[in-house]
Amino acid sequence: MRPPPPANNPPVSSALTPAENALRAEKESLERTVAENMAELRETKDYLENLLGYANAPIIVWDPSFKITRFNRAFERLTGRCAEAVLGMELSFLFPPDSREDSLAHIRRASAGEYWETVEIPIQHADGSVRLLLWNSAVVRSPKGEQIIATIAQGHDITARKKAEEALRLSGEQLRALSVHLQSLREEERTRIAREIHDELGQLLTGLKMDLHWAETRLEELKEPRLNPILDKLVAATEVADATITTVQRIASELRPGVLDRLGLMMALRHEIDQFRQRTGIVCHMDTPEEEPDYAPELATAFYRIFQETLTNVARHAVASAVQVAFRGTGAWHTLEVRDNGKGIDEAALTSPHALGLLGMQERAHLLGGTVAFQREATGGTIVTVRLPAALPHQPAYD
Ligand SMILES: Nc1ncnc2c1ncn2[C@@H]1O[C@H](COP(=O)(O)OP(=O)(O)O)[C@@H](O)[C@H]1O
Ligand SMILES: [Mg+2]
Repeated sequence: MRPPPPANNPPVSSALTPAENALRAEKESLERTVAENMAELRETKDYLENLLGYANAPIIVWDPSFKITRFNRAFERLTGRCAEAVLGMELSFLFPPDSREDSLAHIRRASAGEYWETVEIPIQHADGSVRLLLWNSAVVRSPKGEQIIATIAQGHDITARKKAEEALRLSGEQLRALSVHLQSLREEERTRIAREIHDELGQLLTGLKMDLHWAETRLEELKEPRLNPILDKLVAATEVADATITTVQRIASELRPGVLDRLGLMMALRHEIDQFRQRTGIVCHMDTPEEEPDYAPELATAFYRIFQETLTNVARHAVASAVQVAFRGTGAWHTLEVRDNGKGIDEAALTSPHALGLLGMQERAHLLGGTVAFQREATGGTIVTVRLPAALPHQPAYD
């Protein structure tokens, strides 16, 4: 039986045999299917090209010999070059010369199908300016997967973000440098005031004391009982002068301990703990190296000031009966540890924005690239550990 003719086929030729007619119909049906598939493929291709072309992100495709085979509009805008001009060219001209080798190394790895995490690669515009992009790529394999036929990469422009980050980092660095500078100005000012108080006020008071002593001696020589009340007053005044001299020396020494400048940090720490022991009656044990480490003044001052504040806190808050101090001054990081056996520092104090003493210590250490840690011991007591780098971080000059 002959098959019924297809609806829109030309009428079956009566000159052909039935077998020939059947063959012809099959051929025509095949041709139609191919044409339909081709149209569909073309549509898909156009769709993909449009997707690629109009995507907001710069997209580029290159073949295994690193020749550019696709270059979308976003890439044209990014580089100031049109696709027609760059298709078929090697990738390398896209990278600024100073980072070209690094960029090509990444590209080679990506094109070999090796794992490529997002990487930062700079791209050079036709006008010479450079933009930084974050890249993602994937390889395209032949249908059976045995061969890599292309690499497709998509970039994300992070130039503005990088600039903002850099500006933020720089301003942080400047703030820190300024803070270091202010700290050292404050220390200089304290040293100057301490010297003036010690020298000038000290001399005046000593002069006053000598005058009082002179008057006292003269009055005594007169051996006149009616002058005794005046003599008593003079003796009392001399005692006041003595007490004032002691106070002035203490204030000067608290402002800037001369021992820190004259004899170094270890002596200053020992002097400080002696004073602390005398004032509080707390048992103190101190372990410091015999040899004085050779410190920049900022470093010695930081250790010293943090130590002072720590001891003040022990006296004020800890209710301790013993304090142990250990200083380790070797290696890249030098540490000062102060351990008391008191009630232990409150968790709340550690995070309180009002603990200005603790914050001040941390800030001082931070400025020099170090840290201060406060630890509450399970067995009671507090450990304060100061870690500072033996070498100071680089600081811009402000003079
Ligand atoms: N060695 C210590 N033992 C117990 N508590 C402490 C110790 N050092 C600090 N603290 C606690 O931490 C708080 C914050 O200390 P700080 O910032 O120096 O402020 P201030 O000494 O002016 O109170 C103190 O009020 C105290 O409660
Ligand atoms: Mg305090």
